[in-house]
Amino acid sequence: MTAESAVGHGRAHGKVILLGEHAAVYGSPAIALPVAALPVSARVSRHLGPTESDHGRRGVRIRFWVQHQISRSSGSSLYAAVAAARQQWDLLDLPVEFRLHCSIPLGRGLGSSAACAAACVSALADLVGRAVDPIELFRLVQCGERLAHGRASGVDAWAAISHHLLWFEDGAARTLSGRLRATLVIADTGICGSTRRAVELVSEELQSSSGCRRLLDRASELTRSAAEMIEAGDVPALGRAMNSFQSILRRWGVSSPELENLIAAATRAGAAGAKLTGGGLGGCVLALTTPETAPDVVEALSRAGAAHVWTTAVQDGPPTPSTLELLCPSERIREYDGHRPGYT
Ligand code: MEV
Repeated sequence: MTAESAVGHGRAHGKVILLGEHAAVYGSPAIALPVAALPVSARVSRHLGPTESDHGRRGVRIRFWVQHQISRSSGSSLYAAVAAARQQWDLLDLPVEFRLHCSIPLGRGLGSSAACAAACVSALADLVGRAVDPIELFRLVQCGERLAHGRASGVDAWAAISHHLLWFEDGAARTLSGRLRATLVIADTGICGSTRRAVELVSEELQSSSGCRRLLDRASELTRSAAEMIEAGDVPALGRAMNSFQSILRRWGVSSPELENLIAAATRAGAAGAKLTGGGLGGCVLALTTPETAPDVVEALSRAGAAHVWTTAVQDGPPTPSTLELLCPSERIREYDGHRPGYT
């Protein structure tokens, strides 16, 4: 237990899923890479003034501000995580105001909702001088994720608070070691996907066809073999596994013409493999390249109409900001302006 302070600070970050999205909701494994260069920072203070757009409880005010407007659904998931922490830590009578700076584009499958929740819950713990261990933090973030996704496997919540390549299975996560000399290229279609809608869609597909259900086993096999390929540093084989996983996601109906356009562009430019990452129905494509082929793939994705393109190294150990470059500086996330309430 540390001392209470006037303000509390918390941080978290975005993620990409290499393989296993959607299947993870049904207990299959997933491999996720935390992306430290897509950070979220939260600052919380004891809030005393009157507010307009509050989520109040028992007359006690709680308010969130972010640097740009976000949707009501993302806001509710954040509120749910913070509400669970306030309840669990007996802080329902404490009025608080959060200010967030989120550099993760929202609704792109990069884990913005989990990262915002993790940063706020950590900031609240810091404010009241409470030590919070990773499992407690994960559980609180999951309260919001369940609200955001309907069914949430927990992979986003773990990735938001971890610093290593992760093996995730059945709600638990561990570090995955690897010797992969590879560059991941992340390309944004610029289209917001809805993870909740995508998770519902896959659930409908699984109920309607035994062929779709059988693909769950195939998804697990692919993810398990991908872990061995990462361990062995086999980029071409991992690329093929990613392509096969994309075929499954396509069958489940969560790809889109815009995603397929970027996948085709990355493949033509020499990527070892390419697939959507996260929920799909918009959002981002993840292409596996070598450091040598990465520039051609980046250029091809930009030419094919990607709204943003980033690269990040796959490495064993904590990712650092230098491992991810923002390749479209003109699209830099705007600085926090402090005047627009979000989560209303
Ligand atoms: C979203 O990033 C990943 C999904 O598998 C949902 C989940 O696992 O909670 C689509």
